[in-house]
Amino acid sequence: MSEGRPAHRIRTFHPRRSRTTPSAASALIRLLPGWGIEVETAPSYLGDAFAPPRPVVLEIGSGMGETTLAMAQADPDTGIVAVDVHTPGIGALLAGAERESLGNVRVCIGDAVELMDRLALGSLAGIRAYFPDPWPKVRHHKRRLVQPAFAHRAAGLLAPGGTLHLATDIAHYADQMLEVCAAEPLLDVGPGLVARPSWRPITGYERRGMAAGRPSFDLIASRR
Ligand SMILES: C[S@@+](CC[C@H](N)C(=O)[O-])C[C@H]1O[C@@H](n2cnc3c(N)ncnc32)[C@H](O)[C@@H]1O
Repeated sequence: MSEGRPAHRIRTFHPRRSRTTPSAASALIRLLPGWGIEVETAPSYLGDAFAPPRPVVLEIGSGMGETTLAMAQADPDTGIVAVDVHTPGIGALLAGAERESLGNVRVCIGDAVELMDRLALGSLAGIRAYFPDPWPKVRHHKRRLVQPAFAHRAAGLLAPGGTLHLATDIAHYADQMLEVCAAEPLLDVGPGLVARPSWRPITGYERRGMAAGRPSFDLIASRR
């Protein structure tokens, strides 16, 4: 468990300013009290945030939430907890979940790494991080989300057979993801880096990369 916020923790996200649409702002005000989870008071079993409790997938860095919505709609028996520091995106996700009458989405505005510190080992069916910030400059690589400590924590949080699904369109980061996950004894990286499986919707960030000619790489590692 976390013992407060370590002062030395390196942030994996950029501070961003962007506009919150009126519908997202309204959704935040109306829905966050019921559908929001706070890092400091998060239940160690996120399944308890749903009625009835159910297996949970944690999505780290949900951005504007389009992929979250599509995957939640396709799998109503699984609870999706989307965590992002980007409040306008979480508002858009909440507005979408209400519009689509989705009861299996919960959100957390905060640092996923801090949230993960609070969760019980073996308590998650899956963890997704689609297109985590690439931090392309070498001096910023230490800010990348997928590092050995992250892989170890993620693996520990997964129930046996649970999956850590990562995607990126930065070849160097894809290689780092594979190297880090392959070195984690609790993870089985299967075939390694693969093309986007057809069941993973194209994300908003990915769409921009595709337009710029960047192919995506997926890695689906299973908890042994
Ligand atoms: C490049 S965007 C990708 C968004 C979305 N997954 C997509 O593919 O469109 C990365 C997102 O991760 C979020 N993020 C990065 N580090 C995070 C952290 N430690 N905790 C929560 N969110 C984080 C950022 O705020 C941003 O919204």
